[in-house]
Amino acid sequence: MNVLDFKSRKATKQKISMVTCYDFWSAQILNRTDVDTLLVGDSLAMVMHGFDSTVHADIELMGLHMRAVRRGAPDKFIVADMPFLAARKGLAETMDAVQVLMQAGANSIKLEGEKGQAELIAHINESGVPVMGHLGLTPQSVHGLGGHKVQGKAAEAASALVESSVKLAQAGCYALVLECVPRDLAREISQAIEIPTIGIGAGPHTDGQVLVLQDMLGMNPDFKPRFLRRYANGYGVVFDAVNQFHRETRSGCFPALAESYR
Ligand code: KIV
Repeated sequence: MNVLDFKSRKATKQKISMVTCYDFWSAQILNRTDVDTLLVGDSLAMVMHGFDSTVHADIELMGLHMRAVRRGAPDKFIVADMPFLAARKGLAETMDAVQVLMQAGANSIKLEGEKGQAELIAHINESGVPVMGHLGLTPQSVHGLGGHKVQGKAAEAASALVESSVKLAQAGCYALVLECVPRDLAREISQAIEIPTIGIGAGPHTDGQVLVLQDMLGMNPDFKPRFLRRYANGYGVVFDAVNQFHRETRSGCFPALAESYR
């Protein structure tokens, strides 16, 4: 997978799969899977560090996780999130943040929102750095949006999202994440732009899908948004394995002689 493949995948109607990845050991597993793309998402602030929003990820944290993922997944196309406000403090600071992520091993950056950013995106793109856009529910704006809510339900908000999508494509984005938007709007956007859309909570009509790895593995039984399909009971597997280890340690049946040295 490289940046050119995204457009051709859309042209040939082959959907794109993307999962988040934040660390070395899961990157090693994902590197051997068929998944098309990894995302070092700023959701790592919540999933890995227990914060209540992605606002708490900064460029040092993103760089640290990006480097670990690249070491574990040398063969994958990896997208790294520009963290909260990293692209809002002027061109020089934006480009410094882009440099951190790219030199940490990213193939592309992802930037949330469109308003006031089209020129910036064009500049990053012209600097040789592919930019993935992100519209709909943009979690870095959670305070401005009044919570993690489906976006673009009203007609006016829906047409604003279509307009922003077109602008991002014109600014040079090679792909666009659509998060938590109604499925018909996601279809309209996907038909309106040439670049592929990658949905999360955006229904079946996007050109690809992205999920947070821990969510699709069922690591958190309490997180049950409608859009989430669980592909494993990861919580149960870990819980049962650790309890079994505990019981076998207590009973003395671990380790066996064959699991020890002469
Ligand atoms: O940070 C993240 O995990 C994301 C996905 C939800 C697309 O941006």
